[in-house]
This record gives sequence, structure tokens and C-alpha cells, in this order.
Amino acid sequence: MDIIYMDNNATTRVAPEVLDAMMPYLKDFYGNASSMHSFGGSVGREIIAAREKVAALINADPGEIIFTSCGTESDSTAINAAIRSNPAKKHIITTRVEHPAIKNLYEYLAKNGYRVTWVPVDKEGVLDLDYFYSHLSEDTAIASIMWANNESGVIFPISEIAAKLRDKGIVFHSDAVQAVGKIPVDVKQVGLDMLSISGHKLHAPKGVGVLYVKKGTKFSPFMIGGHQERNRRGGTENVASIVAMGRASELVMGHLEEMDTRIRAMRDRLENGLIQNIPNALLNGKKDVRLPNTSNISFEYIEGEAILLMIDQLGICASSGSACTSGSLEPSHVLRAMGVPFTAAHGSIRFSLSTYNTEKEVDFVIENLPPIIERLRTMSPFWKEGAGRLQ
Ligand SMILES: Cc1ncc(COP(=O)(O)O)c(C=O)c1O
Repeated sequence: MDIIYMDNNATTRVAPEVLDAMMPYLKDFYGNASSMHSFGGSVGREIIAAREKVAALINADPGEIIFTSCGTESDSTAINAAIRSNPAKKHIITTRVEHPAIKNLYEYLAKNGYRVTWVPVDKEGVLDLDYFYSHLSEDTAIASIMWANNESGVIFPISEIAAKLRDKGIVFHSDAVQAVGKIPVDVKQVGLDMLSISGHKLHAPKGVGVLYVKKGTKFSPFMIGGHQERNRRGGTENVASIVAMGRASELVMGHLEEMDTRIRAMRDRLENGLIQNIPNALLNGKKDVRLPNTSNISFEYIEGEAILLMIDQLGICASSGSACTSGSLEPSHVLRAMGVPFTAAHGSIRFSLSTYNTEKEVDFVIENLPPIIERLRTMSPFWKEGAGRLQ
């Protein structure tokens, strides 16, 4: 059975070109970049080259790029650096729809002496900017606003926010893990202080991330250790993955145009095909301000988990907006923040495409999902055929 992989916001396939680029650094060139011998030195040069490629992807200076182990480490490093650099300030601000990498750290800080403001979103997942601006104060150390939401795909107005925060003495950090590689991200044009990237969301392997820190931003390391990354992140460099990150950056930069055209068109066709052919199918997220690859659809009155299990039998990989890990089938905090009713939030599925998806795969999903939804609804106590909405 062929796999139809439409879960690229969860993780992506390592691009073959990326694998080719990194393999020599696992196999042959295993030197330590800090060594005095030329064998290690040649590895150090590859790290420099990778840093330049990542910098080019977001229009940063290479010196502003710090390699980390993942998006989560980049987020933690940014937030910790901001609060440690501004110890007198005790207010921090973020959104109600951040990834757990931010959300759980802010919740931890809320229990440890910080006052946290959670900025709400509306029913389309759009950020309440008035609420945000009205809660900034002299006491605010950091604002963490994600560039694009991993579940709804909704893009936040980062440029506008950066302009508003300029010269206010508030560190502006954005978790751009879902944005970089899918839409243009230009840190110079936007003018924010810190930005997080994750390798495995853009066809590099798991285990490598990037933190951009604007030149001049007060910084203190999270990983205190060796002198690596110019004393900003201790630990012997993960050379193969850093090389991979550089190659992946080049590749996704070359695919941005395709994201905006072919992949966006394919996503729209998938979404329209499902919404038109399935009753009570509702789109989550504002239609025209989303990542071009993401579609989050609620199929009312059934469980997302049940849908995932049935499509899994056909080789289709997607994600659901509810997590049954606790056994409670609690809908995600993102859909709850958007006010998606429980009957819809439970049946939400996120499809996220990449350059490797094909029109044939989209056809397959459009053809095979409607009968699955119909079957599940016949088993649902909340759905009576012909009656449609029951409550
Ligand atoms: C928006 C966002 N931030 C952070 C992360 C965490 O990245 P990583 O898995 O590299 O730690 C993810 C991963 O899903 C994400 O979607």
C-alpha cells in the first residue's frame, strides 16, 4: 500500500538531496569542528556554509543564526534569554493558540512569578490585536507571537506587530516553525528580535533547529557549556544535521513559489472537494490568511480519531484536532480558543501538504473520504441521516 502523506505540519520527509548532503558527515567526515587538525577544520567550514544558507532563507546575517536541537529548544532559549536579560520585568505576553513549546513554558512561568497575558483569537483564528496592544506595559519583558498556527494554518500579522513593538523595550520573539519554508520570512524587513525554526518541518531531519537572534539583542545562553555557537549554545555541533539544515534551507527557498501556486491550488482543490461533497463539513481558519499547505476541516458529529483510523487503512496520514491520550477526547486548545463547538472540534482533521504530494493523491482523498464520513455518521448517536444537524 502506498502512503499518502498529508501530515507535513507534524513532520516532513527528509528530502533525498538533504540526505545526500548530510551522509558524508555521518560516515567519513566525523571530525570535531573545534579540533586544531585540518580534518576537523574542514567540518567547521561546512557549518559556516550551512549558517550562510539558513541566514539567506530568512534574510538574516550568518552571525545571527544559532543552531539548536529543535524548535522547542529555540523557543525555550528565546524566552529564557529575554526574561533573564530583563530581570526586573515580570509581565510576558503570548497568544492562546501557541504550540505547547511556548504554551507550557508560559504556564510554568505563570506559576513562577510571572504575570502572563494570553491574547485571544476570534472564531476564524485571527488574533485580537486590540487586546494585545492594550495589554502591553512598561513591565512587559517579552511578546511571543507565533508566525503561523500549526493547526489552523492562520498567519499572524508579524510585520505589523513588530512595527508596533519597536522601541518599546519589549523583546519580540516569533515561533516561525510552521512558517519558514512555506511562506517568505524576511527578518530584516519585519525587524523582530528572535525567531525559532525547526529542521524537521522543512525536510531536514529531526534533531536540528535554529534560533535567529537579531544583532544587538541582549542574550544569555540556555545551554551553558562549551564555546560553540560563539558561546551562545554549548555542545559539540550536530554537524550532519546542521549541513542538512543548510541544504534544506536552499531547497525550500527554491520551493516557495511552488508553495504559493501548485501546493496552494492542490490544497484548495482538496478542501473544496471535501467541503462540497460532505454535508456538515466546516473549515477552521480564515480562508485567505492561511499557510498555503494547510487545511483544517471539521466533520460534525463524529470523532476525528475514528476518521484517522479509517483513512489510515487506506494509507492516508493526517492529524486530528482532538487528542485521546487522556482518554477524554478533549479538543485541542487551538480549536477551543477559536470557539469551535465541541460537536465540530471533535471531528476535525488537519491535512498538511508538501512538495511531494500529487494531484492523484488529492483525487484519492476526495473520492475515499466522503463514504467513510457517511459510514461513521450512521454509527454516530448524534447524527441521524437526512436530519443533518440534531442540536
Ligand atoms: C508551531 C510550532 N512550534 C514549535 C514546534 C516544536 O518544534 P520541534 O518539534 O522541532 O521541537 C512545533 C512542532 O510541531 C510547532 O508546530
